[in-house]
Amino acid sequence: MERTFAIIKPNAFADGNSGKIISRIYQEGFTIVGLKKLYLSKVEAEGFYYVHKSRPFFGELTEFMSSGPCIAMVLEADNAILKWRDLMGATNPAQAAEGTLRREFGKSLGENATHGSDGPETAAFEIGYFFAGLELL
Ligand code: RTP
Ligand code: MG
Repeated sequence: MERTFAIIKPNAFADGNSGKIISRIYQEGFTIVGLKKLYLSKVEAEGFYYVHKSRPFFGELTEFMSSGPCIAMVLEADNAILKWRDLMGATNPAQAAEGTLRREFGKSLGENATHGSDGPETAAFEIGYFFAGLELL
């Protein structure tokens, strides 16, 4: 079993799509090990996305991620990291395959509905950024 970190981003939360996304997570066979609603500050969003700090879109990305509440989750499954990225679809909703979450709930490259860790080291950092061990029993 593997764990990954997921976010229902502010656009999907504001649109009332959290329930549908969580329902898909269960349908696809993930276990939700941790879940919380958060309203990130700009500094907290910057700390989360620090790997992108030198990218031109860093300001826009962290403004958006701190623009409203989101839901942070730890998901568990066989191959959870790749499995969750497959369910999300391509970063740009316009290029995401039919049936993926970003295709269904994403609005644009920035407001793309969900986040997922991109590898085991990233997953470990991201899970630890948002959850204490006691919240993941
Ligand atoms: P995420 O980290 O949010 O799960 O998305 P990802 O791995 O598919 O994409 P990544 O390259 O890590 O980019 C992080 C987020 O930054 C926004 N982005 N904007 N304006 C742009 O060129 C641009 N490129 C990426 C996206 O919202 C992406 O999810
Ligand atoms: Mg990424």
